[in-house]
Amino acid sequence: MTSLTGRTVLVTGANAGIGYWCAEQLAAQGARVLLGCRSPERAAVAASSIRRHVRDADLDVVPLDLGDLAAVARTANDVRERVDAVICNAGVKAASREARTADGLDLMIGTNALGHFALLAGIAPVLADDARVVAVGSIAHRFARIDPGTIDAPWTGSSLRQYGRSKAALMSLTFELDRRWRGTARSALCAHPGYAVDPLTPERDGLAPVARIARTLTAPTRVLVQGKDGGALPIVHAATSPDATGGDYWGPGGLLEFRGAPARVRAADEVRSPTVGGALWSAAERLTGVRFDV
Ligand SMILES: NC(=O)c1ccc[n+]([C@@H]2O[C@H](COP(=O)([O-])OP(=O)(O)OC[C@H]3O[C@@H](n4cnc5c(N)ncnc54)[C@H](OP(=O)(O)O)[C@@H]3O)[C@@H](O)[C@H]2O)c1
Repeated sequence: MTSLTGRTVLVTGANAGIGYWCAEQLAAQGARVLLGCRSPERAAVAASSIRRHVRDADLDVVPLDLGDLAAVARTANDVRERVDAVICNAGVKAASREARTADGLDLMIGTNALGHFALLAGIAPVLADDARVVAVGSIAHRFARIDPGTIDAPWTGSSLRQYGRSKAALMSLTFELDRRWRGTARSALCAHPGYAVDPLTPERDGLAPVARIARTLTAPTRVLVQGKDGGALPIVHAATSPDATGGDYWGPGGLLEFRGAPARVRAADEVRSPTVGGALWSAAERLTGVRFDV
């Protein structure tokens, strides 16, 4: 385990699921962790839980609603300390076609991809000279096509495909950020948690309670999938390991990338394309009204 004493990591969506486990694991390694959460109450529950499991955890809550660009700008303005790493974890899944952010953007694209784009642009001035950004992608990015010209257009097809598009967009923007940061000590990379579910996750008071019967019935699936604590591992690895570098994509190394120890995995050519990434960057600036000069 790398000691992270002296490093500050901002984790978005740190009050639940994989984000919570990233925060707990980072705190256990000595990092100062900023919990980026939209609910003060859920953030307080998560912080208390981390403190129960990690003595002397160094934590702070950063109010963050990625589905509201004015709120994201306020958050960026409020973060005044140096940030060494950002884990762009918060995400919405299975939203309907009608679901919108406060700014009228498609909820999944607006939150998962554009909200993080605006956040990173806003906090760029406080990022350390060697800062690392890790975007949480998904296996689902491989089943989606991204057209930067229509990224916020009304969509057809399944909600899962649109979710995959939002994850592909976040990954494409992250690889583009890494290209724009070349020649500096900053880096951006992606990681995914595989297939991570609550019933296989260790219990934490106040977080995602799962009935004992559901835990028992789900236990045999552990051969294929994993808990959210396991899902956090490739993401924390990408954010902290000297072995991980800009432009990497990490995920679980087991069967179908559903579970297993962190390994380098393959990202779709489309999300690695500089042409797509460059066009998507311009679209993200237009849709958010936020200029991200690198
Ligand atoms: N679980 C998997 O198998 C899997 C697979 C591939 C990728 N992923 C990705 O991994 C990430 C975490 O997934 P999970 O399974 O841990 O999900 P989860 O348990 O539903 O947690 C999602 C987190 O995102 C936060 N969030 C949602 N909308 C937000 C907003 N507008 N502003 C700020 N925070 C917001 C949630 O906060 P609230 O509590 O306030 O809603 C929550 O903390 C997501 O990006 C997901 O796409 C998960």
